[in-house]
Amino acid sequence: MTRVNSSISIVILSLFCGLSAQSQEKKTVSQPPHHLKAGVHCFDCHQEEKPTKKAVASDSCMTCHGDYPAMKAVTKNAKPNPHDSHLGEIPCTECHRQHQPPVVKCLECHEGKYKFNIR
Ligand code: HEC
Ligand code: HEC
Ligand code: HEC
Ligand code: HEC
Repeated sequence: MTRVNSSISIVILSLFCGLSAQSQEKKTVSQPPHHLKAGVHCFDCHQEEKPTKKAVASDSCMTCHGDYPAMKAVTKNAKPNPHDSHLGEIPCTECHRQHQPPVVKCLECHEGKYKFNIR
């Protein structure tokens, strides 16, 4: 009985630690829900445990999502295809910003012309 009780309290304790670690992370810097839910870690993008202002390379994104030709295939039904344009292979984060809402760079020049569903 005591043995069961102590394993329950260990479970509760670790749950609590997990939760407070998560809310602490949230306070420091916000992440989009799709990456938060998928458990994408700071290191996966920044390649360092304590991220600084250093830019995040598209290579980090491509490790999980694939390169431009792959992304072009994924969004082949979008008109026009944001991953296959006259802008070429610009950094992913020009549009998919992570700690701020995403922006579709195309619309800076083609305002109101196209509709996208970016995350
Ligand atoms: C999915 C990729 C990704 C993940 C995961 C991620 N970041 Fe970032 N981070 C970026 C990008 C991209 C930038 C550049 C600014 C931007 O586009 O939002 C950035 C910028 C930053 C900056 C500089 C802020 C500034 O104002 O320039 C800090 C600090 C930072 N991230 C901390 C973190 C921490 C801490 C975590 C984990 C909790 C984290 N990041 C997780 C992609 C990521
Ligand atoms: C460690 C792997 C990993 C890294 C690194 C990563 N992602 Fe993701 N990303 C995921 C997973 C897992 C999901 C959720 C499942 C999905 O929708 O593909 C996701 C979701 C997304 C989505 C939403 C997909 C949708 O269906 O709308 C976008 C956009 C995205 N990531 C872009 C990026 C960009 C840009 C970077 C680099 C700054 C990046 N990711 C870095 C794994 C990663
Ligand atoms: C010029 C802006 C822009 C750039 C740069 C960009 N994307 Fe996107 N991305 C978009 C838009 C817009 C969508 C949504 C398209 C739609 O409406 O279906 C999207 C959708 C996505 C999705 C979700 C696809 C799906 O439907 O499942 C992923 C994942 C993604 N991008 C990853 C990347 C990666 C990785 C890079 C860099 C190699 C990148 N993007 C570069 C604008 C961009
Ligand atoms: C710096 C401004 C600028 C940005 C950013 C930009 N474009 Fe353009 N785009 C132009 C100009 C200028 C033209 C040629 C004039 C025109 O057709 O509107 C053009 C032409 C086009 C055309 C051909 C138009 C047609 O009706 O035949 C498409 C499609 C297009 N852009 C898509 C995109 C996409 C997708 C993005 C984002 C990935 C993008 N553009 C980003 C300036 C821009």
